[in-house]
Amino acid sequence: MKDTTDTTSRRIVIFDTTLRDGEQSPGASMNLAEKIEVAHALVELGVDVIEAGFPIASPGDFESVSEIAKTVRGSVICGLARCRDADIDRAWEAVQHAEQSRIHVFLATSAIHREYKLKMGKEEIIRRAVAGVRRAAGYCPDIEFSPEDAVRTETDFLCEVVEAAIDAGATTVNIPDTVGYATPAHMNKVISTLRERVPNIDRAVISIHCHNDLGMAVANSLTAVEAGAGQVECTINGLGERAGNCSLEEIVMALRTRKDYYHAHTQVVTRRLVPTSRLVANITGMQVQRNKAIVGRNAFAHEAGIHQDGMLKERTTYEIMLPEDVGFTKTDLVLGKHSGRAALVDRAKALGYTLTPEQLDTVFGQFKVLADKKKEIYDGDIAALIEQEIHTTADQWTLDSYRVVSGTGTVPEVHLELRCGDESFGTEMTCGDGPIDAIFLAIEQLTGISVDCKDFTVHSVTVGKDAQGEVSVQVEHEGQSYRGRGVSTDSVEASARAFLNAINRIVAVTNGGGR
Ligand code: KIV
Ligand code: ZN
Repeated sequence: MKDTTDTTSRRIVIFDTTLRDGEQSPGASMNLAEKIEVAHALVELGVDVIEAGFPIASPGDFESVSEIAKTVRGSVICGLARCRDADIDRAWEAVQHAEQSRIHVFLATSAIHREYKLKMGKEEIIRRAVAGVRRAAGYCPDIEFSPEDAVRTETDFLCEVVEAAIDAGATTVNIPDTVGYATPAHMNKVISTLRERVPNIDRAVISIHCHNDLGMAVANSLTAVEAGAGQVECTINGLGERAGNCSLEEIVMALRTRKDYYHAHTQVVTRRLVPTSRLVANITGMQVQRNKAIVGRNAFAHEAGIHQDGMLKERTTYEIMLPEDVGFTKTDLVLGKHSGRAALVDRAKALGYTLTPEQLDTVFGQFKVLADKKKEIYDGDIAALIEQEIHTTADQWTLDSYRVVSGTGTVPEVHLELRCGDESFGTEMTCGDGPIDAIFLAIEQLTGISVDCKDFTVHSVTVGKDAQGEVSVQVEHEGQSYRGRGVSTDSVEASARAFLNAINRIVAVTNGGGR
């Protein structure tokens, strides 16, 4: 939320790269519809710039950047390009229809990258960086330049490259800590040196892009802001290559909570942080850990008696932020068997979802079924039902029923009934290593689609023995990776639903849809 009380406060530009660097996380790939959904959520969150992808990387990347540029309004849409003509032309082709477009060109500058990756000397690097920025600036006025691996680049050379890029037309110069090597003191030195030694530095915004290999991405980004950076590059849930990028929710709340110290603010609507985090976690299948700062389920839970006592006397004894301010709803225990549609709509709204009447019908039906099995329905239960509904593709295959008999030292017997359109299909098999393996094999047999299961996780959506289990699977089919998720109070059923969800994504691709 914008801070209006501190007149000396600097506005920090939030550049979100969940759809580009975040999507580079192993297993976090998203299909076109999912990327568009995330982009809309980022606009609602109030991010200034959305890096939507790397258009030259693949036709799918191009299509998603281009669709986002055409349809998403409210944030600058940025496309990444190497300092190569074809990359820059393709990036422009993809972002040109945006309300406001940005081209982000990058070229590695550190000695390691120059010698081993690019096999280029310093002059060649400067020549190409300048040519790349000029070409991009010929297309649009908003140009970002990144000297990749800047933090490990010799100081003199980094200053030289940055000065040349600004002269060539870069309006933002981004300083990537590509391998997460910096420490806060080191980062302070890098940014301060650039401000002192690059004569034209005032003509560009200094940006910071930190990876989290040593767990210091947020700390390094904050130090960069303190040293004068005006833009922070970050991702929802800290997704990104290897250990990830600077987490958006953490940097935004650090700036907001410590505005007394940083005198800086962002335009992020902080109560959208938790809903956006949940959306990205559900779409990518990469759930955040319970104790993750800001958006983790335990981030505001007080367990110790002394803490609870302090909280009851005065909240600020142990709480530096309000859970409502980041999007947690005040009360968690909400609905039960006797709750009606209006109550469900109300909770859905409070959780940040707007449902179509058809979606509401389905979710309400499922809610009633759940309420029969489970006395207390929590926000997490409702969010899980809604997420399942809104991310369900037009399903080809659905689960009618299953029965498995299994035990120690016996091969499971499975009976499975699936539906495809109006037709029903059943099988009985004795197979597998356990009940879940048996169901997966039976689904493969009935659908005729074989996959390799690469990842399987189950976690409980809320608390208690009757909590719903949420299963995420990642499978491979013909060299492509697909995700699926399912929820149920019965974890075997949740597994079957997750597996079918992945199978339906395969069917959608085979029929011409996206993954
Ligand atoms: O980490 C990095 O260096 C990058 C650049 C492309 C900005 O992601
Ligand atoms: Zn990066």
